Order: sequence, then C-alpha cells, then structure tokens
Amino acid sequence: MDIRDFSLDHFGLHGRVAIVTGGNTGLGQAFSLALAKAGAHVFVPSVLDDDGTTRDLIEAEGVRYEFLEIDITAAGAPRDVIDTCLDRLGSVDVLVNSAGICKLATVEDFGRPEWDPMIAVNLTAPFELGHEASRHMIEQGSGKIINIASLFSFLGGQWSPAYAATKHGIVGFTKAYCDELGQHGVQVNAIAPGYFATKITEATRADPTTNQRVLDHIPAGRWGDVADLMGATVFLASRASDYVNGHVLTVDGGYLVR
Ligand SMILES: NC(=O)c1ccc[n+]([C@@H]2O[C@H](COP(=O)([O-])OP(=O)(O)OC[C@H]3O[C@@H](n4cnc5c(N)ncnc54)[C@H](O)[C@@H]3O)[C@@H](O)[C@H]2O)c1
Repeated sequence: MDIRDFSLDHFGLHGRVAIVTGGNTGLGQAFSLALAKAGAHVFVPSVLDDDGTTRDLIEAEGVRYEFLEIDITAAGAPRDVIDTCLDRLGSVDVLVNSAGICKLATVEDFGRPEWDPMIAVNLTAPFELGHEASRHMIEQGSGKIINIASLFSFLGGQWSPAYAATKHGIVGFTKAYCDELGQHGVQVNAIAPGYFATKITEATRADPTTNQRVLDHIPAGRWGDVADLMGATVFLASRASDYVNGHVLTVDGGYLVR
C-alpha cells in the first residue's frame, strides 16, 4: 500500500460481522458497542440475556444485533455459535473471546470445583470458538480473532490460580493461532485490560485496602472505565491492524510498568 492510500476509513468495519461472547455486560458490552460504532453487525452469545439495553445501544448505531442464549462450555456449543451467526448475519469476520469468570479462594481452598469451570469458560471455550471460526476465516482469506487476556497473563495474583493459568494460557493460544493463521490473512491478537470497574472486580473494589493497593499501582491514578477499551478493540478488529499479529495490547493505565 502506498502511504497516500492510508485513510481513517481503514478503522471502519462497515458491513462486517462480529461475535462478542458475553458481549452484553461489563467489558463485553463496550467491545460490542465499539464494533457497532465502527459499522459492524454484532452477534452476542451468552448464558444470560440482559434487559434490552445492549440491543438498544447497538441498534441505535444503525447495525444489526443478534443474541443467542447459550452456555459456551456445553458440548457442541462453539459450533452452534458460529453456525447460528453465519445463518443469521451471513459471516464471521471478527471473534472477540470475552466471556470469562473468576472464582476466588486461597491456595488451600482452591480445588477442582473452582479450577474446572474456569478452565472451561476462560480457555477451552475460546479455543473451540477460535477453532470453529478459523475454518470460515481461512476460507474467506481474512478474519480477526481478539482474545481477552488480563494483567494476570503476566502476573500471578492472589486467590485465583486458575485465573492466572487461564489468562497465561489464552496468550499462548493467541500466539500459536497467530503463527499458523497469519498466512491466511487472519490476525490473532489479545487485549489485556488492567483493572476495570465491572462485576468481576466487585470483590476487589469492596475491600478498601485492596482497592487502595490497586490504585497506588496505576500510573494513570484511576480504575479503568470500560470506554477506555473501545479504541483498542476497533483497531484490532479493523484493516488498520492488518500487520499486527500475535500482539497482546495492554490497556491498563500503565499498571505493568510500575
Ligand atoms: N473487569 C476487569 O477489570 C477485567 C480485567 C481484565 C480482564 N477481564 C476479562 O474481561 C472479560 C470480560 O469480563 P467482565 O469484567 O466484562 O465480566 P462480566 O462478568 O461482566 O462478563 C462476563 C460475561 O461472560 C458471560 N459468561 C460467563 N460464563 C459464560 C458461559 N459459560 N457461556 C456464555 N457466556 C458466559 C456472562 O454472562 C457475562 O456476560 C473476561 O474474560 C475477564 O476475565 C476483565
């Protein structure tokens, strides 16, 4: 591409179709709306429907919103997600693996009942969804897979060995998929959000000592607002990032440098 051909249109997603797992709450809702604002139709598979807020937000952008109530860890669910999206919206151009859970307990109390569901939601489901989506993306010669990592893709953290294990794992999966899929025009990257004020971090924010410890560690001096993630999402989903492969983009107010 000649440098004169670059344009802000390269950030646009007009007519594209994006799947955002768990895309009607928390960070997921911000990923969905960011993609819709860039012009993409949005398909959200999740265990829980919301009160209609996400549909209203997305449709207000003049794009389509489709919801599928599904547990993405159930046998055959990832294939159902991809097939239903293809059936309802005609394509799968972007996959954002956002759905995630976090169970907290000390090392002594953290056993298989805590470990197994986290591996299933945070790691196995993104892998299976990526596997199913990549068939379609390889065939069309393009696609974007964005895995949602975490600061605990780099750090240990207390009270959830499975969280760090799954978030380290999703970065490995991102790199492995990137390595094979780059040749097919499919870019696989990750976003590692820092500390954001959502349901998953309620317990951390409720404890004044832990809350202050987090704040003291953030050069930006504040918890992340979900809107802080929207630019990174559009970038990694768009043509503007076509030569960005296997990258983990931290959006953390600088947490990792301190
Ligand atoms: N909130 C933060 O500060 C933060 C920081 C770093 C990374 N993350 C990651 O961001 C992602 C989104 O987290 P969030 O904070 O928006 O949490 P959230 O709890 O608001 O959203 C998680 C979503 O996943 C869905 N979900 C859970 N299990 C599912 C299943 N089995 N099948 C289908 N859907 C399922 C839930 O219904 C919910 O909509 C997660 O991967 C999380 O680990 C969050």
